[in-house]
Amino acid sequence: MTTSFQEQARVVQLALSSGVIDPSEDTAVLLVDWDVLDHRLGLLSAHWPGVFHAIAIKSQPHKAVLTHMVKKGFCLEAASIEEVRLALSVGCAPSRIVFDSPVKTKAELAWMHQQAPAALVNANSLEELPRHGFSPSYKLGLRVNPEVHTGAPELFHVSASSSKFGVSIRQKEAILDAIVRYPITGLHMHSGSQITRLDAQLEAIEMLISLTKTANQRLAAAGESRRIEWLDIGGGLPSSPWETMVSYAKSAMDLLRPLLEDVSLYTEFGQWVHTDAGWALSAVEYVLPREGDTPDVAYVHLGADYFMRDAYTQPRPFPMQPLSSDGTLKKAHERAYAIAGPLCFGGDYIHRNKSLPLLEEGDWLCIGQTGANTLGLWSRHCSRMLPKVVGYSSQKNTLEVLSPRVSMVL
Ligand SMILES: Cc1ncc(COP(=O)(O)O)c(C=O)c1O
Repeated sequence: MTTSFQEQARVVQLALSSGVIDPSEDTAVLLVDWDVLDHRLGLLSAHWPGVFHAIAIKSQPHKAVLTHMVKKGFCLEAASIEEVRLALSVGCAPSRIVFDSPVKTKAELAWMHQQAPAALVNANSLEELPRHGFSPSYKLGLRVNPEVHTGAPELFHVSASSSKFGVSIRQKEAILDAIVRYPITGLHMHSGSQITRLDAQLEAIEMLISLTKTANQRLAAAGESRRIEWLDIGGGLPSSPWETMVSYAKSAMDLLRPLLEDVSLYTEFGQWVHTDAGWALSAVEYVLPREGDTPDVAYVHLGADYFMRDAYTQPRPFPMQPLSSDGTLKKAHERAYAIAGPLCFGGDYIHRNKSLPLLEEGDWLCIGQTGANTLGLWSRHCSRMLPKVVGYSSQKNTLEVLSPRVSMVL
C-alpha cells in the first residue's frame, strides 16, 4: 500500500480548502499518511506473532508519529539518550525502549539505571561492559557483529570487520567469557540498512541462535541461573517491495520459533515502516528555461535540508507529481527538469533530470515515499524553517496539523 498521486491531489485540495495549508506561508509541507503507516504496522504484527517491534526513532522522530505507534503497542529503538527521553515523553514505558547508542557516557548509563529500569540497553563493545556495573536496573544486551554482507550499500553496511558497531563474531570465546562475567541477558545485531540478501541476513540470525545456545550452556556450566532470554535482530529491510517483509518474517520465524518458548524476540525496523507513510509537498517557486538538451530548472522549497542524505550521497528515486495551484493533477506536456532545492550550494538537487508534466510558478510538487530518514536528518544549513507537518487518514476521514512551521534558529 502506498499513497497514489490521485490521493495526494485530493489531500492537497482538502488541506487548501480547509485552511490546513496556507499557501501564503506554507511553501512546503510534510505529510503523514496514517493509513499507510497502520498498514505497515499491521503487517508486522500479523507476520511476526509474539514479537516485540522496537521501531527505530531515528527514521521518523515526529512526536505525533511516535505517540501513535506507542498507543498501538509498539516499542521504540533509541539511538541516543535524547531519543530515550523522546520515547519516555510520548508515553513509552521504559521496558519497551531499546537503547542502542554506540557512544553511551557513564552519566547516561547512570541516568538509565535511575530513570529507565527494565529498558533494554545494548552494549556496543566488550570495552563498554564495565561501564554497566554488575547490577544495572535495565536489561543488558551485547551487540554482535555477524560479519556477513547483506548487500547493504557501503554507507549502511555495518557488518564489515572494520565496523564500529558490535563485537565481531570471530571473537566468540571473548563474547562467551563476557556473557558469563557480566549480567548480560540479551544478544543484539543489526547487520545494515537497505539489505538485499535475505540469505546472508538469515545466516546472521542462525549465528545468533547458535551463540545463544552455547552461551546458555556456558552459563549453566558456570552455575549461573541467568540465561540469554532476549534476542534483538535489528532492522534493515528497504521499504519496497513491502512483500519482502512477509518472506523475511516467515524464514526468520522458522529459524527462531524453537527458541521462542524461552527467549523474547525484538526487531528494530525503521525505513520499512515509515518510507511509504510520508510524502512531501513543495510550492514550485519558479522555473528557468535552459537551452537544448539541458533540463529546465524548477526551484522548490525542500532540498538538502529535508533530503540531507540524498543531497550529499545518492538521491533516492522519489516519485514526483505536479499539481496546479488549486491542487488538481497536472498531466500534459512532459519535459525534463532539474529539481533544485533552496539551499545556497551547488549540490542541492533532488533530481538532476526528471521528466514531469509542465511545471509553472505557483504549482505544487508532490514528492512521494519521503517518510523515513528525512525529517530526522533535517539540516539547519541556511537556517530555513522546518515545514508544517500534517497527518491524515482517508479511511477515517481526518486531516490535522501535527506540528506548525517552526524556526530552527538557536
Ligand atoms: C541499530 C539500528 N537498528 C535499527 C536501525 C533501523 O534500520 P532500518 O531503517 O534500515 O530498518 C538502524 C539504522 O541505522 C540501526 O542503526
